[in-house]
Amino acid sequence: MKLLNNKFPNIFIEKNSLYTKSVDKKTFFDEKTFVNNNIFFREWDPKRSKLAAGLMKGLSQIGLKEGSIVLYLGASHGYTPSFISDIISNNGFMFCVEFSPEVARDLVTICEAKKNMVPILADANHPEIYKELLTEVDIVYQDIAQKNQVQIFLRNCDAYLKKEGFGLLAIKARSIDVTKKPRDIYQQVRSELEKYITIVDYRELEPFEKDHAIFVVKKK
Ligand SMILES: C[S@@+](CC[C@H](N)C(=O)[O-])C[C@H]1O[C@@H](n2cnc3c(N)ncnc32)[C@H](O)[C@@H]1O
Repeated sequence: MKLLNNKFPNIFIEKNSLYTKSVDKKTFFDEKTFVNNNIFFREWDPKRSKLAAGLMKGLSQIGLKEGSIVLYLGASHGYTPSFISDIISNNGFMFCVEFSPEVARDLVTICEAKKNMVPILADANHPEIYKELLTEVDIVYQDIAQKNQVQIFLRNCDAYLKKEGFGLLAIKARSIDVTKKPRDIYQQVRSELEKYITIVDYRELEPFEKDHAIFVVKKK
């Protein structure tokens, strides 16, 4: 088991599979686990997580570190959030926004079991709704398959991301325009982002996620 990259905490690779080191030693998704030198590892599937796919595709910066404060938009059942929770460890904290009450039920269960994440049932189109619940964050992570996903992301970065903070934006090209080629959509997203924010990394996620890409940005 070795660190994936010296710059990333708590993310490991072994035989081409990704793992996080889990402080709380709990599993939530029937993922493979193992213990080595009393350290508990959870396998992280790049076919279920765009961040894991981006890491397997060689992302060189993600901004996440132990102690990071994260705003996660589109937390769903909590799969990727549960791994980010491992990465930021118990001195970090994550606000998990999800608007579907059905999937948020699973998210709530995970948030109850983990010490460093809290669910927020809200529409990320309206960041002002949760302004009483959070302050500035180090990272905004978004995985929302909506036509206006870039605007939702920029709105939340504008409201909550600190200066020089990192944003990670997973893009589902087909949700933006099913008639256009994904590469053309990524180019369009790049132009929109560049008006407000600096792009520091970008990966297309095939073969793990078809027609998806991830942008890593930094607030000016
Ligand atoms: C692709 S899933 C996210 C998967 C999750 N990020 C993971 O990797 O485990 C997208 C989620 O975004 C949620 N969503 C879509 N639009 C939203 C909005 N405007 N505000 C909050 N959540 C939204 C959906 O309900 C869905 O659960």
